[in-house]
Amino acid sequence: MARALKRIDYDRSAACYEKHRASSPRLAAGLLARFPNLPRAASVLDVGSGPGKLASALRELGARVSCADLSREMARLVRSRGLACVRADAGRLPFAERSFDLVVLTYVLQHIPDWRAALEECARVSRRGVAAVTASARQIRGHVFAKFFPSFAATDLARFPKLEEMLACGEALGFEVEASEIVTSGVKFGATYVERVRSKHVSTLELIPEEEFREGLEAMERHMLRQEKHPTRFHLGTLVAFRRG
Ligand SMILES: C[S@@+](CC[C@H](N)C(=O)[O-])C[C@H]1O[C@@H](n2cnc3c(N)ncnc32)[C@H](O)[C@@H]1O
Repeated sequence: MARALKRIDYDRSAACYEKHRASSPRLAAGLLARFPNLPRAASVLDVGSGPGKLASALRELGARVSCADLSREMARLVRSRGLACVRADAGRLPFAERSFDLVVLTYVLQHIPDWRAALEECARVSRRGVAAVTASARQIRGHVFAKFFPSFAATDLARFPKLEEMLACGEALGFEVEASEIVTSGVKFGATYVERVRSKHVSTLELIPEEEFREGLEAMERHMLRQEKHPTRFHLGTLVAFRRG
């Protein structure tokens, strides 16, 4: 069943994603490791690729990568990295059945009203499987933003698909499914991080009321700048591997 979701303007956010979203070599390696049955130089389609940072990291690891994204600006950034990108909806991909060894979706399904239909479409164009990176309810509640922005957790719990529903959907599509925790990025919680948050580099920050955002940002800045040392902390996500047996 499709949900009602507020649409984020990704053409507007593209420059911010390009500047502030982490590059993803660790995530790319972790993701491929969950699919031991992939051939060498596997063909990979990154759906909802954003500016193409994960796609570049996958290419560095030897994959042959293409991207699909709805946003014109995101597609332009992907192409500036020398990668192919089609502008397409995840629910209607312009590819024949089983065109790619693997399809990946990182932090995309929470934007899609009918996420099940999108997952089914990704399954259609994949030979070996689909890798979806998402956030579990525990990860949402434990996110650093939940401390500073009171409506953060409720906002994301309402839009991210529930993990058990994703697993059930994958099984209904005939996949072997496995969910595991994965490090998506390492960050130092200092001044640079506060600047990233100020630029709203995560879409949830656009969905919370502006006054709450300002107050939370000030509290976060006070808290983070008080610390003398800023050791690297890790953001965690959940990788759901949908594998064909
Ligand atoms: C939160 S960003 C994630 C970008 C990237 N995958 C990452 O992890 O940094 C979501 C991306 O999905 C794209 N997107 C949203 N809805 C989409 C849809 N229905 N079909 C294809 N792309 C979509 C947006 O344009 C945006 O680039």
